[in-house]
Amino acid sequence: KIPVIIDCDPGHDDALMLMLAFGSGRFDVKAVTTSAGNQTQEKTVNNALKILTLIGADVPVYRGAEKPIFRELVIADFVHGATGLDGPSLPQPAFREQSESAVEGMVKILTRSSEKVTLVPTGPLTNIAALLLSYPHLKNKIDRISLMGGGIFRGNMTPLAEFNVFCDPEAAAIVFQSGVPITMCGLDVTHQALVFQEDIDAFRKLGNQTGRVVADLMDFFSVFYRAHRAELHGGAALHDPCAIAWLTRPEIFKTKSCYVAVETHGLLTRGTTVVDFYDVLGMKPNAEVAYEIDREAFIEMIFEAVRTLP
Ligand code: BDR
Ligand code: CA
Repeated sequence: KIPVIIDCDPGHDDALMLMLAFGSGRFDVKAVTTSAGNQTQEKTVNNALKILTLIGADVPVYRGAEKPIFRELVIADFVHGATGLDGPSLPQPAFREQSESAVEGMVKILTRSSEKVTLVPTGPLTNIAALLLSYPHLKNKIDRISLMGGGIFRGNMTPLAEFNVFCDPEAAAIVFQSGVPITMCGLDVTHQALVFQEDIDAFRKLGNQTGRVVADLMDFFSVFYRAHRAELHGGAALHDPCAIAWLTRPEIFKTKSCYVAVETHGLLTRGTTVVDFYDVLGMKPNAEVAYEIDREAFIEMIFEAVRTLP
């Protein structure tokens, strides 16, 4: 099993990412830490506790930063609703978060671990940046950072900036400059990781509670995509599960080693991942950037995982 710490801001696609991580049986999830992003920290930590309660996952949850390093928090309630997980009715959390912070939790786990741990961030990178800045000696305990964020050729918050990186660009810059190996699943690939109505119906028919919750989540999530992403032909983009899927099934992705920098100032481009896809700069690559995914195989992975859950 791959030892991981998941840092997320649930979030509909974050919820499916957690289900894939736990349901696949391929990960040793050491902890879930939460970032403020899709909703406030108060809501994302509670949403994480609810999803973990639903799927019967017994794992420590640590509350992360309340806001980005420099900027005011921008939330994505226009996608994820007032709760951050609008749509289904979810169980109340059966357990509480730990008393330590996300950074303290990660430090404890990395320090004690005899093997390297992979970090999987699927929200703004505030907690991960704080960890890397404050505890640089722990970088050698991190195998890789497999993240959802950025894009090669497109954005979703501005024409070029993707939400997670836009939210906390300084944190993203710190992560990309850290020297830790990175896999980046940005919008180019996640906009191919689509869930369609027939998939949603099939989740509902699985017959378990988690399958029904997935269907209710995706019904709500799809409303935004149908209204604002007509190019996706009715599909909704399952961004965050890509960051987990790559770790066990890299062969269903196409990736390229690239140099990636983050624009933190630009007038029109703040929060953009500047990906040197054609290596015009000749810089040393710092990320494995995903640009294609086998959608069918990806959705099948999520089905297989959800089927095993309560
Ligand atoms: C990212 O932003 C969030 O709304 C999603 O959960 C995903 O992590 C996509 O831009
Ligand atoms: Ca997310």
